[in-house]
Amino acid sequence: MRWQVLLFILVLHFGSVTGQVSYSIPEEMPKGSFVGDVTQDLGLDVKRLNSGKARIYTGDGAEYIELNKERGVLLVKDRIDREVICAQTAPCALHFQVILENPMEFYSITVEVTDINDNAPIFKRGEMKFRISESAIPGAVFLLQQATDLDVGVNGLQNYFLKPTDNFILRLQNQADGSKMVEMVLQKPLDRENEDHLSLILTAVDAGEPRLSGTVQVHVNVLDSNDNAPVFTHKTYKSTIREDSPSGTQVVTVSAHDSDEGSNGEVSYAILNLLDNVSDLFEIIRETGEVRLIGNVDYEKRRLYELDVQVSDQGGLSDACKVIVDVTDVNDNPPSINIMSNANAVSESVKPGTVVTMLNIQDADSNDNGKVICVLNENVPFTIKSTTNNFFTVMTDSELDRERSSEYNITVTCSDEGVPSLSSSVTLTLQISDVNDNAPVFERSSYEAYIVENNTPGLSIFTVKARDADWNQNARVSYILEDSSVNGVPVSSYVSVSADSGVIHAVRSFDYEQIKDFHFRVKAQDGGSPPLSSNVTVKILIQDQNDNPPQVLYPVQTGGSVVAEMVPRSADVGYLVTKVVAVDVDSGQNAWLSYKLQKATDRALFEVGLQNGEIRTIRQVTDKDTVKQRLTVIVEDNGQPSRSATVIVNVAVADSFPEVLSEFTDFPHDKEYNDNLTFYLVLALAVVSFLFITCLVVIISVKIYRWRQSRILYHSNLPVIPYYPPRYSDTLGTGTLQHVYNYEVCRTTDSRKSDCKFGGAGSQNVLIMDPSSTGTMQRVQGEKSILDEPDSPLECPPSPAASLSPYRSLMSMTTLLSLRGAHMRPTL
Ligand SMILES: *[C@@H]1O[C@H](CO)[C@@H](O)[C@H](O)[C@H]1NC(C)=O
Ligand SMILES: *[C@@H]1O[C@H](CO)[C@@H](O)[C@H](O)[C@H]1NC(C)=O
Ligand SMILES: *[C@@H]1O[C@H](CO)[C@@H](O)[C@H](O)[C@H]1NC(C)=O
Repeated sequence: MRWQVLLFILVLHFGSVTGQVSYSIPEEMPKGSFVGDVTQDLGLDVKRLNSGKARIYTGDGAEYIELNKERGVLLVKDRIDREVICAQTAPCALHFQVILENPMEFYSITVEVTDINDNAPIFKRGEMKFRISESAIPGAVFLLQQATDLDVGVNGLQNYFLKPTDNFILRLQNQADGSKMVEMVLQKPLDRENEDHLSLILTAVDAGEPRLSGTVQVHVNVLDSNDNAPVFTHKTYKSTIREDSPSGTQVVTVSAHDSDEGSNGEVSYAILNLLDNVSDLFEIIRETGEVRLIGNVDYEKRRLYELDVQVSDQGGLSDACKVIVDVTDVNDNPPSINIMSNANAVSESVKPGTVVTMLNIQDADSNDNGKVICVLNENVPFTIKSTTNNFFTVMTDSELDRERSSEYNITVTCSDEGVPSLSSSVTLTLQISDVNDNAPVFERSSYEAYIVENNTPGLSIFTVKARDADWNQNARVSYILEDSSVNGVPVSSYVSVSADSGVIHAVRSFDYEQIKDFHFRVKAQDGGSPPLSSNVTVKILIQDQNDNPPQVLYPVQTGGSVVAEMVPRSADVGYLVTKVVAVDVDSGQNAWLSYKLQKATDRALFEVGLQNGEIRTIRQVTDKDTVKQRLTVIVEDNGQPSRSATVIVNVAVADSFPEVLSEFTDFPHDKEYNDNLTFYLVLALAVVSFLFITCLVVIISVKIYRWRQSRILYHSNLPVIPYYPPRYSDTLGTGTLQHVYNYEVCRTTDSRKSDCKFGGAGSQNVLIMDPSSTGTMQRVQGEKSILDEPDSPLECPPSPAASLSPYRSLMSMTTLLSLRGAHMRPTL
C-alpha cells in the first residue's frame, strides 16, 4: 500500500520537463533494495538510459542510492540511517539527480527516508546517585537525568517511569524545546534506620513499534540525622554480687541501642547517682556499658544499690535505666564474743547450774551466716546455754571439787552456720575457791611405835602425820592429844603431841617393868570453819632394857643371922644341897638367868646348876671337909650388858645341929667387908658433899629457867607442852638412878611422919621415877607395899642417926636428891 502511494506521488511529478520524482523509503533498507523504477516514472526506456549514460549526481553528498541501468530502477546502495542523515530533522529526504547525455537532460529525484523505531531512549550516564538526608521533608525535588531517543516522532522519547514509588514520585515538566524536565519529588519521608539506601529505576519509553525503552538506576543514599534516641535494651537490670567480691568484679553490662549511625549513634554510658556513695563503689565503662565494682560492698552495711545509668548519643539524645545490685551475704564475719560478766572464782560448794559467765555473741552476718552456736571445751564440768537471742550463760553442770581441779580453763567456741563456718573462741580461767570439805586424813589407820624404857623425858618418839586435801587455812592441820587415861593417869602425863608438827614426845621416862604398852588417840583438826577432824589410835610399846639385876629370892639374906643349909656327911654325890631361886623383873633375855659358883670354901665339893641354880655335891663328902662351907653364887641375866647378883650360901657339913652351932657361933666377921667399909664411907662423904652443892646450883637455875619459861608461855598461845627438865641423875654425874640396884631405898609410909625406912641388907628395891604423879613410886620386892603418894614431898632427913649404917644413909640421900631434882622441888 505504501509503495503504491509513493508511486502515485511520483506520477504527479512526472509532468515537468526537467522531471522530478520523489520516492519514499524507510531507513535501514538492505543494500540492493528497490527504491523506484525510473524508466517508468521518468518515461525513459532502458536504451536511453544506456545511450544517455545515465548516472546519478549527488554533488558532494554520499551516494546512498544507485541506478541500475539494465533494469532502470533505483536501488539502495549503502545503508541509509535516517538519524545519521537527518538527525532530528523531519522529514528527511535524499536529493540527487539522474543525469543523461545525448541529449543532456537531468531529473531530480527525492528519496524521502522515513523513520523506523530503531533507537531506544538512552540515558547518558548509567546511573544516578543521590545523598538525601532522612530529615528531608516531603516535597523536596531532585532533578533527574533526561533520556534521549534518536528517533523522531512516535519513535522518539515519549515518557518516563520511576519505580518504585514508595518515597518518590516522578514529575515531568515540559520545556520550551519540547523536551521534558524529569524531577523526582519526595513524597514520603525517608528513614535511614529503616532503609538507608534506595534503588530506583527510571525508565524512558518511546511510542514506536515496538516500544523501546531505556533505564537508568537512581541510587539514593539516605543520610542519617539524629532522629533516634538511644534506647536501653531493658529498663531495669538486676545483678547480684557477693559482698566479698573484689574490686574490678563485673556487675552487669547495660546496653543501649541507637538506630542512628555515626556520631548520632555513638552512645556513652554514665552513672548519675550523686547523693549516696554509689559512684565510689561502681563505675561504668563509658563505651561498653559494663558496670564494675570499684570499692568494697558490705552486706552488713548496705544490701541494695540502685544505680541510675544514663546513655546518650553525641547528638544529645539520651535514655536512662536502673541497675539494681543486690549484695548477697557471705560469711565474712566471725562471731564476736563479748564477756558481759565473768566470775573469776567460784566456791567449790556451788550447786550445779550456777552461772559463772554471761556472754553476748554478735555475728554481723545474716541468716545462717549469722546464726551462732557456742560450745565449751570438753572435760570441764560446765555447760553453756543460750538464754535469749545472742545471750549465753556458762554454768556449772556438776559438783565442783577444788581438790580435784582447782582451776578450769573454759574455752568457749562460737561458730556460725555459714559455709564454711567461721568461729572464734575465748578462754576464761575460773578459779575454784576452797571450802573446808575434807577432814585431815592420817597417813596410817593406826600407829605403833617403840620406845626403849628409861628414855629421856621430852624425847620425841615419832611423828604422826595427817594430810588435808583442802587449801590454806582449811588444810592447816593441828594435832591434839585426846584425853584418856592410862592406868588411871591422864595420858597427857605420858606423852605430848606437838600441835604443829605431830611429833609425839615422851613426857616421862618409861619403865618397862611398870608399863609395857599403852595407847591413846591423836586428833588431827584443820583450821576451817567449822573445823573438820579425824583421829587415829597410837600405840606405844615400851621395850625392855636390862635395867634390873636378878633378885635372889632364896636363900633369904638376913642381916645378922646366919642361915645354913645342912649337908649330912653321908650325902652322896649329886646331893641337892639347896636351890638358889632368883628372878629378874626384866623380860626376855634380860630375865634369862644363869647361876655360877663364884667363890667356894671347897670348889671341888659343890656345883651350881647353870640353869636351875641347884647346888649339888659333886663328890662324896668326907670327914676332912670343914663343917662351914661358904659358897658365893652369882646370878647373871643374859642382858647386854648383863647384870648380876650374888648370894652367899652357907652350907654346914654336919650330921647334927650342935656341931653346926659350934661352928657358926664364932663365925668371924667378914673382915674384907669391914676393910672396904671404911674406904666406901670416905668416898661416900665426898660424893654427898659434892652432890649437895651441885644440886643446890641446879635447883636455883631450874627455878629461874622455869620462871622465864612461864613468862614465855604466858605470852604465846602455843599449846603448852609440859616442861621436863633434863635428868638430874645425869647432871649429877652419878648415873646411879639410871641403873638403880643394890642399894637401900628411902621409903615413906606416911608423908606426915616423914620417917625413913631402910630395907635390909639383902633386900632389892627398884626405884622408879614417876614425874606425872610427882611422887616416888617404889616397887618393893616381895611383901613390901608400893608407896605412891603423888603430892606429898618425900621427906627423908638425912640424919645419920636414922640410919643403921653411914653408908646406907648416904646412899639414901643421894637417891632423895635425885628424886627431888626430878620433881623440881625447890625446897630440900
Ligand atoms: C559516703 O562516704 C563518705 C566517706 O567516704 C562517708 O562519710 C559517708 O557517710 C558516705 N555516705 C553514705 C550515704 O554512705
Ligand atoms: C590454764 O591456762 C593457763 C595459761 O594458759 C595455764 O598456765 C594453766 O596451766 C591452765 N590451767 C589448766 C587447768 O589447764
Ligand atoms: C575417832 O574416829 C572415829 C572414826 O574413825 C569416830 O567414830 C570417833 O567418834 C572419833 N573419836 C573422837 C573422840 O573424835
